[in-house]
Amino acid sequence: MLNMANDPEPFSEKLRVPEALTFDDVLLRPRESTVEPDEADTSTMVSRNVRLNLPVLTAAMDTVTEGDMAIAVARHGGLGVLHRNMPVEATVAEVERVKRADELVIRDVVTASPDQTVREVDDMMNQEGVSGAPVVNEDGEVLGIISGTDIRPYLEVGDRDKVHEAMTDEVITAREDVTPRNALELMYEHKIERVPLVDDENRLLGLITMAGILQRREYDMASRDEDGHLRVGVAVGPSETDRARAADEAGADILFIDCAHAHNRSVIEDARSIKREVDADVVVGNIGTREAAAAVVDFADGVKVGIGPGSICTTRVVTGAGMPQISAIAQVADVASQHDVPVIADGGIRYSGDAIKAIGAGADAVMLGSYFAGTDEAPGRVITMQGKKYKQYRGMGSVGAMKSGGGDRYLKDEQEDDELVPEGVEAATPYKGTLESELHQLVGGMQSGMGYVGAESLPEFKRRAEFVRVSSAGQQEGHPHDVVITDEAPNYSPDGQ
Ligand code: XMP
Repeated sequence: MLNMANDPEPFSEKLRVPEALTFDDVLLRPRESTVEPDEADTSTMVSRNVRLNLPVLTAAMDTVTEGDMAIAVARHGGLGVLHRNMPVEATVAEVERVKRADELVIRDVVTASPDQTVREVDDMMNQEGVSGAPVVNEDGEVLGIISGTDIRPYLEVGDRDKVHEAMTDEVITAREDVTPRNALELMYEHKIERVPLVDDENRLLGLITMAGILQRREYDMASRDEDGHLRVGVAVGPSETDRARAADEAGADILFIDCAHAHNRSVIEDARSIKREVDADVVVGNIGTREAAAAVVDFADGVKVGIGPGSICTTRVVTGAGMPQISAIAQVADVASQHDVPVIADGGIRYSGDAIKAIGAGADAVMLGSYFAGTDEAPGRVITMQGKKYKQYRGMGSVGAMKSGGGDRYLKDEQEDDELVPEGVEAATPYKGTLESELHQLVGGMQSGMGYVGAESLPEFKRRAEFVRVSSAGQQEGHPHDVVITDEAPNYSPDGQ
């Protein structure tokens, strides 16, 4: 057939195609180094205003990130992005849960009144899961403090005695602006575990506990906002203004515009108007080309890259469209880096080596789904199949996830089941234990990669990284070969699971 479209270019020219590569096509070229991997600094900007100690995000998927995962990953220095297959009120509750998790000052204090009986207070403390409570009068003034030790039977306190008879009435209190160090000194000095915070009139404002202070010290890499609360990201649909506003008000640090193809005029307009309305940073995704990056860098606080690389994605086979991931990252980073807009590489990362290659190709951070879906902190139960333990992992474009409300990510209207055109599958992934040990393997491998390239920090790594192309023979050589693997390594399995 002749080309009738008045197009001077023959169709066959369309097949003179540029090459696009992915993780297995390249390796980092080793360079002279003086860097000890353990000392390599992995801190990074993940959006214009948010810095993380680890360049790692957990995917906004209903089998990966809810409050538990977000709390765990933020405590260790990364960021969880809450999925959006839940009502807006649930999003708000999850954001608040993360923000309260390592709160130094407890605002929602369980209190006792002086006229309650010892038995009533004991029941109440058991129910609320606390081991002590400030005793306050009707005006909120602190009269004393009552704890398990005050009401144990051997102290000869009767069940029906009143709280004011059993409480300790010499209370050590502090002002609201007390530093953690001073609060801890007070606790050691007076051999107590909690200090009520009061105003000028001795009215209760909050409570600071030894457990809270020590926990905070344990997580010294944690991602925290200016008030010391853990950071959290929230996925919002491009037209979900309500969720965006509510999450922003609840204190979300970054909103992630969650769309499979964000290089779409109405998605960009929606994202732009969300950005105008919120205080949180707004990351726009997913994209995979220079032109898409150019279309959003004037307002986006970050961009997320990934058109079909995910382990559960069928976008490329269903739609015929996509961009091999490492080329997509590099193309987007070409443009985004000129505007100081951080780039997040989302999807397709099976090994720590893939993650550090993504950064070498221009990403500032990586987002992973399947890598973390098998951990304790991911939603869902552990299931056993043929003697092995698994957890469910499904694409947000799978039938099951779309039925629970995620269809508009794929720019689809609500439809009957048999009319859905899924772009993902439902699967199971091996159970892996704690997030902490998975993160340790991931980041440890990335730091070793920095060592091979001789870079002490991620910006330096991005400058120094050079790639070589790998043939299929080279790929085979790069995996264990000509042996029978007898023991599982914590960071390697032949199929990347
Ligand atoms: P990994 O490879 O880490 O990928 O498991 C996670 C990322 O995959 C994207 N995602 C999907 N892509 N169909 C897709 O084409 C889907 O059903 C789907 N669900 C998730 C998403 O960007 C995620 O972070």
